[in-house]
Amino acid sequence: MNADSPPLAIRTFRESDRPGVIALWAQTLGHAVEVDRDLDFIQRWSNARLYVGLIGDTIVATAAVGHEGNRGWLHRVATHPDHRRKGYARALIAQGEAWLARLDLPKVNLQIRGHQPGVQAFYESIGYVVEDRTSMGKRLVPVGTGLPVIDITVTHLEMTAAPRVPAPPPPALKLAVLRAEPISVPFYRYLYNTVGETWLWWDRRRMSDATLAAIIGDKAVEVYVLYVNGEPAGFIELDRRDEGAIAIAYFGLMPHFIGRGLGPWFLHWGIDVAWRYKPARLTVSTCTLDHPKALALYQRMGFEPVRQSKRQMVHPGHAP
Ligand SMILES: CC(C)(COP(=O)(O)OP(=O)(O)OC[C@H]1O[C@@H](n2cnc3c(N)ncnc32)[C@H](O)[C@@H]1OP(=O)(O)O)[C@@H](O)C(=O)NCCC(=O)NCCS
Repeated sequence: MNADSPPLAIRTFRESDRPGVIALWAQTLGHAVEVDRDLDFIQRWSNARLYVGLIGDTIVATAAVGHEGNRGWLHRVATHPDHRRKGYARALIAQGEAWLARLDLPKVNLQIRGHQPGVQAFYESIGYVVEDRTSMGKRLVPVGTGLPVIDITVTHLEMTAAPRVPAPPPPALKLAVLRAEPISVPFYRYLYNTVGETWLWWDRRRMSDATLAAIIGDKAVEVYVLYVNGEPAGFIELDRRDEGAIAIAYFGLMPHFIGRGLGPWFLHWGIDVAWRYKPARLTVSTCTLDHPKALALYQRMGFEPVRQSKRQMVHPGHAP
């Protein structure tokens, strides 16, 4: 960055950046279509990253990088017209290139539409060369085809007094429940990703390590891990950050431990722990993506549905 330019903060895209990024692209990349789709797409996979450059809270530059397993690609490089020639695009691209290099990608490519000498000069100034290639492409879906969206109905349940449901008999297995405290991000991701894979739990997959660490590192967030024969079989997460109420933020079993009678026993155990804090309310929610028996199980354990809400989610990706 040039010495006299205002400092540019660079980080990866967050969902709250969407309006700022769209506004910048509308102003700088007139040809860019389907920007919402592109932003969803970039977040969908782990082989792409969008870097944003901010001055204060304003997004003034972007650069996206990705790879197809062989070469890296650079796209969505844009700097707000009021902030050009300050080294911002160069700085963002440097971040993207460094990320690709860490993945051992040997090369990065890009395409420039038509003939734009200024843009070409910019890339040449940072080491890119025009190569003797013919650029070809083919559309696989017509412009305007959105990513598949799933309609989700969420049922919110609560109880306002400790239930009098007798504890289900513990399955005849070697069981232990341990609070992971403090829980590390990799171990949490292992639990969350393995339990949630079937049910499309994606919100926390998309979170950066720092954001996730701030949540799970909070003293008022308790993650209890169920062990069966010495290996993790599921977890329950109690969230006490909201004063007075406790939420069962997540509860689930690893796919390979479903069907052994562990669910009711472990859920009852978690509800019991929550009520020891004497909250005004204990809440949980379940959605139509969850196990079909989840709602009935929560009701059996003493929760009552209080409302339903609807939301949509872009499908996080298709299995091969
Ligand atoms: C191309 C673009 C991203 C450059 O952004 P920028 O933040 O101004 O670029 P930088 O300040 O990092 O430029 C670094 C160097 O590139 C060169 N450079 C940048 N723009 C240039 C231009 N228009 N002509 C010649 N050289 C240029 C200069 O050497 C510059 O260093 P200097 O200012 O110290 O001389 C910006 O002009 C833009 O957003 N254009 C419209 C969107 C676009 O076409 N994007 C590319 C899609 S492929």
